[in-house]
Amino acid sequence: MTPGSPLACVLLAAGQGTRMRSRTPKVLHEILGRTLLDWAVAACLESGPDRMVVVTNPDADAVRERLPAGVEAAVQERPLGTGDAVAAARAALGTFAGDVMVLYGDHPLTDPASLRDLRATHSEAGAAATILTFERTAAIGADFGRIVRDAGGGIERIVEVRDASAAERAITEVNSGIYVFRSEDLWPALEGLDTRNDQGELYLTDVIGALAARGRPVVGHRHAEATGGLGVNTRADLAAAAAVLRDRTNRAHMLAGATIVDPATTWIDASVELERDAVVHPFTVLRGATWVGEGAQVGPHAVAVDARIGAGALVGPFCYLRPGADVGPGAKAGTFVEIKNASIGERAKVPHLSYIGDAEIGEGTNIGAGNITANYDGTRKQRTTIGRDVHTSSDTVFVAPVTIGDGAWTAAGSVITDDIPPDALGVARTPQKNIEGYGTRKRSRG
Ligand code: UD1
Ligand code: CA
Repeated sequence: MTPGSPLACVLLAAGQGTRMRSRTPKVLHEILGRTLLDWAVAACLESGPDRMVVVTNPDADAVRERLPAGVEAAVQERPLGTGDAVAAARAALGTFAGDVMVLYGDHPLTDPASLRDLRATHSEAGAAATILTFERTAAIGADFGRIVRDAGGGIERIVEVRDASAAERAITEVNSGIYVFRSEDLWPALEGLDTRNDQGELYLTDVIGALAARGRPVVGHRHAEATGGLGVNTRADLAAAAAVLRDRTNRAHMLAGATIVDPATTWIDASVELERDAVVHPFTVLRGATWVGEGAQVGPHAVAVDARIGAGALVGPFCYLRPGADVGPGAKAGTFVEIKNASIGERAKVPHLSYIGDAEIGEGTNIGAGNITANYDGTRKQRTTIGRDVHTSSDTVFVAPVTIGDGAWTAAGSVITDDIPPDALGVARTPQKNIEGYGTRKRSRG
């Protein structure tokens, strides 16, 4: 096909995913905050397809609801095999003519660059079908379809491991499950498929053998790294794929100027943003719409979900920032501190053992150890507002709704139920009473 020919991407996601042993459809399992399907769809969309069809099973409403705008869904009525799934996409594509790129929805590691290379090889070779292949390793691709080549090195067919002879099983070049076909070659070949294999399914892989047998040009494009071919069939594969995506994501942040002290124990969702010179310490998890400002330090052992961490802020060790936490520039959220739906003003500090929820803390304020905002009255969440340059002492409880004026203080151990005016000291605890001679009397009674 000429490079300018129209492109349709077909993503197969109608299989049962039985090897996951899960109630959740396989393609909805998540890695770094995105489903397997989201990862695969994102890679496809970077190829700039004219049409994009995801093949789903009839019960997968949850899968169809998550498709981005412009991505069409086709339904495969019964899971009769990958060949039948592509036939379901064909029905949705109608009169489309051009290149059809087929991918499997359980390959979250597919990278856009390898898809571009695959398509370039397909165009240059004028092929009827081009397959992305790679060399299997013990960990990756061990059970993938084997690429059978003829004496001249041309691709003859693909054989699934369960249908393979011992000699075929020993082949190290395997099928990644990503292909580009000419639609004029693919559509008739689908009609010729049969179920004569161990699973009694219509195999898309048999299209390759059928085209080669008819003398149509079938070529292979070898993927440089085995990890590029990693597909997810089991939870063990899911963890292996997650580790690769974690490393890829961390590397991109490091190349963009953030420090990640220990990439192997740092999990950063695909949607998180790190500014330059942000430092992420070991055992830290950053999720959702979290943003980390320039020069901020996060961790070790910090978790942030949909949180903002201002420039130069310090978070952790052992800190949990929940949705809506907004730690201002130069502010601190320290050890064993949990913050939810609350803003910590510029240079303000919450250094130790505190829960701050549904609150606003002004600039330069210092929160003592073990302060708690009692924000929930059993039915509603109530707000605590603390002004600028406030000093709260250890073990203060704020029973919301309550407002503390600028420059105010609290006494240690106070349960603050009423507002404190600016610059005043709020004391709310029972005065101490000492009982003289108590210890002596205890001892004398034996
Ligand atoms: C398939 C390939 C194998 C390749 C491997 C790469 C076939 C016959 N085999 O094996 O050569 O090395 O992928 O990962 O194609 N699906 C449907 N409808 C169906 C069956 C499957 O939509 O009726 C979808 C699944 O949701 C999945 C994909 O197709 O996303 C692949 O199916 P799967 O059963 O996982 O194939 P493998 O055994 O992994
Ligand atoms: Ca698979």
